[in-house]
Amino acid sequence: MVDPILGDCSLDSLRNRTSFKWRTYPDDVLPAFVAEMDFDPAPEIKQVIRALLDAGDLGYPHKGELGDAFAEFASDRLGWEIDPDLVFPVPDVMTGVAEVIQAITEPGAGIVINPPVYAPFFFRLELTGRRIVEAPLPGNQDGSYDLDLDAVDRALMKPGTGAYLLCNPHNPLGRVWSRDELTAVADLCDRRGIPLLVDEIHAPLVLPGARHVPFHTVEHPAARQAFVFSSASKGWNIPGLKCGIAVAGTAAAGAILEERWEALLASHLGVHATVAALRHARPWLDAAVAQVDANTRELAVLLAERVPGVRYRPPQASFLAWLDCRELGVGDDPSAVFLERGKVALSLGPHFGTQGRGFARLNIGTAPALIAEAVDRMAAALVR
Ligand SMILES: Cc1ncc(COP(=O)(O)O)c(C=O)c1O
Repeated sequence: MVDPILGDCSLDSLRNRTSFKWRTYPDDVLPAFVAEMDFDPAPEIKQVIRALLDAGDLGYPHKGELGDAFAEFASDRLGWEIDPDLVFPVPDVMTGVAEVIQAITEPGAGIVINPPVYAPFFFRLELTGRRIVEAPLPGNQDGSYDLDLDAVDRALMKPGTGAYLLCNPHNPLGRVWSRDELTAVADLCDRRGIPLLVDEIHAPLVLPGARHVPFHTVEHPAARQAFVFSSASKGWNIPGLKCGIAVAGTAAAGAILEERWEALLASHLGVHATVAALRHARPWLDAAVAQVDANTRELAVLLAERVPGVRYRPPQASFLAWLDCRELGVGDDPSAVFLERGKVALSLGPHFGTQGRGFARLNIGTAPALIAEAVDRMAAALVR
């Protein structure tokens, strides 16, 4: 049972959805890959969308209350004080990132990222004509991860490096970087003169026991220079509504975003839905976080029981479980075996970089019953 505010996550109703998650594979496959949750949208979001439709209010977007709504949420929930004028709507986080990268770096510039990491960090930036410079996260013996600051510094110092794109909370590791790590990052970027972009899209979904540190709250003179990206799309499960948020820490950074307003037009529906989410749908967010938190523990029990060869450390944020399947002996892409033999679709570990070989990512933003089903299918795939 999930909290009724999140819907019932019944497979019958989910199969009627036409989103990427539910239309990529045939009906005999359980999808647990792309980062959308199975929960129903918050009532406040449905209400605002219906009202816009009824009013025929489907024109071009106006920023409206977005700056104030995000500043209120950031202050109340994240301890982050923001000037609403420095909040900008963007169609989605990667479009915002790509536009800023093109504005502040030269073609051919190196962009530092920390793989294993969200696959579009590689290909979207390459499509802008930039090069990827890897500062990998090797992982500790116990399956935990820390930022490798030496690797970051080496990457920042490489000739032609033009920017650093940091993911916090990190996808797929679910790691929330510490204030000390972030301060060190601010300091390194400052010393090497490298601008920083921070993708904080998963921050609203930080789980109990962890604390997300918004980059702009880091006590370093350079921290406010960073471009920070957020969204209601993950937290409130509305990626189809196409509205992300870019936060500039300085007027100069704000001017870069302002100038690109046309390339960064969000969806009008998305802007209103985001305002409704940030202001009025906080109980829904709390219910989603509580469910995902319970799911992280449930998954540990299920894996230990049914697929003991998989190593898993519960994430500190969000609904993505990074599964170390190397001991299963099923090759670089365990998701292929789970899909082919178990009919469950996980995200492919190698898509997150070479460090993802032997891993797969499982989406646990759903009801416990579907997580159990996914794990059962994984277990079935391994029976020879
Ligand atoms: C780290 C990260 N950034 C950006 C995105 C893209 O989100 P959106 O297109 O909703 O802005 C995702 C989606 O999974 C993500 O995990």
